[in-house]
Amino acid sequence: MSTVAAYDPDKEIPRHIAIIMDGNGRWAKSRDLPRRDGHRAGAESVEECLKACGDIGVEYLTLYAFSSENWKRPEAEVSALMGLLALFLREKLPLLMENGIRLKVIGEIDRLPDSNRKALLKTMEKTSGNDRLVLSVALSYGSREEIVRATKKLMVEAKEGKVSPEALNPDMFANYLDTAGTPDPDLLIRTSGEFRISNFLLWQISYSEIHITDVFWPDFRRPNLEAAIADYQRRHRRYGGL
Ligand code: FPP
Repeated sequence: MSTVAAYDPDKEIPRHIAIIMDGNGRWAKSRDLPRRDGHRAGAESVEECLKACGDIGVEYLTLYAFSSENWKRPEAEVSALMGLLALFLREKLPLLMENGIRLKVIGEIDRLPDSNRKALLKTMEKTSGNDRLVLSVALSYGSREEIVRATKKLMVEAKEGKVSPEALNPDMFANYLDTAGTPDPDLLIRTSGEFRISNFLLWQISYSEIHITDVFWPDFRRPNLEAAIADYQRRHRRYGGL
């Protein structure tokens, strides 16, 4: 549920926030606009959240921008989304540099159009020294696919005698996921009121607090992010203990 209370800068700030950005299409439809305009407005929310996370002191932000299943959308919508990604990478490098944001990608980057893949690699390289906020963008991402990829890598290494089945534990397995090196999300936000995980970070959100808001992603701006953090601050995380 969404709330309006302010967050407390003196209380624990979630170190890692992951967001399922949903509702771009419905936002556009409710205004009689093409879906593409919803995605464009959604990109503005991305920019505002990036700045807000940096100001608030969030260290990791992971955004679900394009799922493995999104390839099934009409070709025109897929290319509109890839075009927006290209535009973001072209225009927002100064924003990333000024705010100390390091770009990472999770998902099957090799399935993306060549130009997007190259632009992503270039931006990741250019921002690799930034250390204020790590922005991980999930692209052609599916959590089950990620877990299978990790398992395949492990099986190959086991066959080569580099790892032994006895040594395998959850921490070690996590090192084979796309998110290796990134702490698990403390807070997962989903916009547009759907109560679903949609194949996003299934392994990593085992102990995350979940905040669902009815607000469509293009309307999700700094006050909504702050409300989600305030909601998080009211939770009492027990990790299965008392
Ligand atoms: C879900 O809304 C949103 C997406 C599939 C795409 C998210 C992309 C952006 C916010 C734009 C660009 C991102 C970056 C990182 C530059 P939906 O289309 O499923 O909405 P609906 O459920 O209302 O149809």
